[in-house]
Order: sequence, then C-alpha cells, then structure tokens
Amino acid sequence: MNKLDFITEELEKLKESGLFINIRTVEGPQGAWITADGKKVFNLCSNNYLGFANDPQLKSSAQKAIETYGVGPAAVRTIAGTTNLHKELERKLAIFKGAESTITFQSGFCANLAVIPAIVGKEDIVFSDELNHASIIDGCRLAKTRVVRYEHCNPEDLQAKIHAEKDASRKLIITDGVFSMEGDIAPLQEIVEIAEKYDAITMVDDAHGEGVLGRGGRGIVDHFNLHGKVDIEVGTMSKAFGVVGGYIAGSKRLTDYLAQKGRPFLFSSAVTAADVAACIAAVDTLIASDVLVKQLWQNTGFFQEKMRQIGFNLGNTKTPITPVMIGDARVAKDFSQKLFEEGVFAQAIGYPTVSIGKARIRVMLSATHSEEDLTWAIGHFEKIGMALGIV
Ligand SMILES: Cc1ncc(COP(=O)(O)O)c(C=O)c1O
Repeated sequence: MNKLDFITEELEKLKESGLFINIRTVEGPQGAWITADGKKVFNLCSNNYLGFANDPQLKSSAQKAIETYGVGPAAVRTIAGTTNLHKELERKLAIFKGAESTITFQSGFCANLAVIPAIVGKEDIVFSDELNHASIIDGCRLAKTRVVRYEHCNPEDLQAKIHAEKDASRKLIITDGVFSMEGDIAPLQEIVEIAEKYDAITMVDDAHGEGVLGRGGRGIVDHFNLHGKVDIEVGTMSKAFGVVGGYIAGSKRLTDYLAQKGRPFLFSSAVTAADVAACIAAVDTLIASDVLVKQLWQNTGFFQEKMRQIGFNLGNTKTPITPVMIGDARVAKDFSQKLFEEGVFAQAIGYPTVSIGKARIRVMLSATHSEEDLTWAIGHFEKIGMALGIV
C-alpha cells in the first residue's frame, strides 16, 4: 500500500462511471475547423463565439504589444506598477459595458474569487442560484460566508428565502447571467426588484452574456436595460472576446476597493501586455460593428431549430449554448466519441459540471460556423442519435 494509492482508485472510479475527462490535444489556432488529436474536426466545443481567438486584428495588436512591452508583467500590479495598456483596457471596457469603472483580473474565475470575499464575510449571507458557476461557489467558500441556494432562475423562491433572512446584516444576491451548461438567461429584472425591496447587493456573472446578449454584445445588463441597477458585474475575456482575463464592472469606489482588497489582484501577476492589447482590439471591434453578433444569433437559430425538428431535447436554452440532453454519462460519452470519429468535435459534459443523470453534449455555436457545415454536423447528430435511441 502506498499513501497515494487512493488517487489510482479515484481515477478508476471516474473511468468506470464514464466521468473521466479525456482532454484532446489541439494543434493550431481555434476556428470552425481545428486539428484535435491529429484529426481535422468541426469545432462545436469552444467559447470562441465571434471567432476572435484567431482574429488578424487581435493577433497583430498582441504582436505589437510584445515589441513595445515584452512578454511578462514581472510582478503584481500593486508592487511593480501597471502598464498604460491595462488602464486603457479598463477604460474601454467601462465604456463598452456602460459602467462607471472596471478592474481587470487574470481570469473570470479569479474575478469571482476576488470580489466575493471582498464584499461578504462570516456575518453575511449570499443568495446564490443553485446552478451558479463553480467560480462563484468557490468565491463563497473563500469568503466563509453563509450561502442560501435558491431554485434555478426562480424569483419566487429567491424572494421567499431572502424574506426569511431579511434582518441579516449584509445580503448579496449572485446569479450567472447566461447559465454556462443550460444556456438559459437569469431573470435579472425580477432579481433587481427583489434586491431593491430587501436592500441586497446584486451581482451578475456575465461570462456568457458579453459578445452575445444586448446591443452589439454589451451583455445581460444592457439586454434588460438595467444600467446602474446591478452593483457588480463579472466579465471574462476568455469567451466572446477570444483572449484571456477577467474583470469586474461597477462603480469607481467598487473597483478602487477591489484594487486594495481583491486578493488575486494583490497576490498574482496580471495578464500580459499581449493579452491586454488583443482584448482592447476585441472591444474596439465590438464597438465598431455588430455584424458578428448577428451572425452568431443567425447560426444559433438555424442549428437549434433543425435539432428540435429532429426531436433532440435542447432544454431551456435561449442562447448559443446548446445542451443536447442525453441523461446517462456513459451514453453521452459514447455519443461524443462517435461524433468525433465522424469529424464532429462536441464534448460530453457530466458530473460534477452538471448533476448526475443530466449528462449532455454541449454544443457551442459560433459566428465562424457556416450553414453548410452545421447542416452536415446535424446529419451526424441525427444518425448517431437514432442509433443510440436518443431520437
Ligand atoms: C459563468 C462563468 N463564470 C466564470 C467563468 C470563468 O471564466 P475564465 O475562463 O475567464 O476563468 C466561466 C467559464 O467557464 C463561466 O462560465
């Protein structure tokens, strides 16, 4: 017996239950077609909603930034200073989001880990949608705050739960904007009304809303026209923006506070100048045109309508995130593997990312997809879905 034998046992258990994640190796850039495990496949997995991950303008901005600033930030911003590029990105993001101010982090995950413990602690309560992203859950754990989970996208349940705790000292309601595994949209209008009634702070994670929802992809707050009514917005640069990084948008005093209290900001180096320059180019492109956002929605409507006609259950999606519901994790994995063999890369998602028994193939639509390729992929979904008795 070795003291680390439990790891082998745990890995075996994951394999037996179909929950072991097989990470494919991608060679070359992101796009509609990629090379994964040495095979050319149609890519239905990435969050590259608008194709920015390999956009020529973003790439040349990153290359220029390397010439000017080099490759590494050398230390955390509070100690070694911050580049003017980082500040420019924060200024442009604030304009894009219609917020007073923003502060950037290394990732969306870090943004959640920074803001939640800075806002709430042991004496306080977080009201959290039961399907909120793992980074929100971990942010709450770090904050050592009490968490009251309310039913997914259910304002009545939120209202009842917050009413029961109405005398709590500080109350924070947190929701994903677009739920990353369901594709549905939080009832933000109702959440804001409840927050106003009970004097609660509001926070929305817009990771899958920006570049997708609202005018020209300005996100969920713009989608519901709630500017100035949501206290904290979390964003990521790793999805529609095509790069990497995260941020918080809100009031100037909030971002000033997070620069003093957000631990990932204080104790971890910032993203590189090349990342930041590419992000600035992404924001500029989105401010200049909504053509790609419209194309994304066109592709979404096309794919989802055809899949529903075949008889696939796509849950309650309202966005380009398209869960093709399967149920059993092993069947979902088998489905995904068969798709891959035909040249369609669409990943199976199981526990713990979604509940046990709710495994699915998660299809992510992108503006880079062509209708012809989508039609071809749908054909394979239909063939394999019939063979496995799903449709
Ligand atoms: C809702 C939500 N928040 C945060 C994140 C983390 O973003 P990042 O990849 O920038 O860390 C994700 C990504 O999976 C997400 O879906």
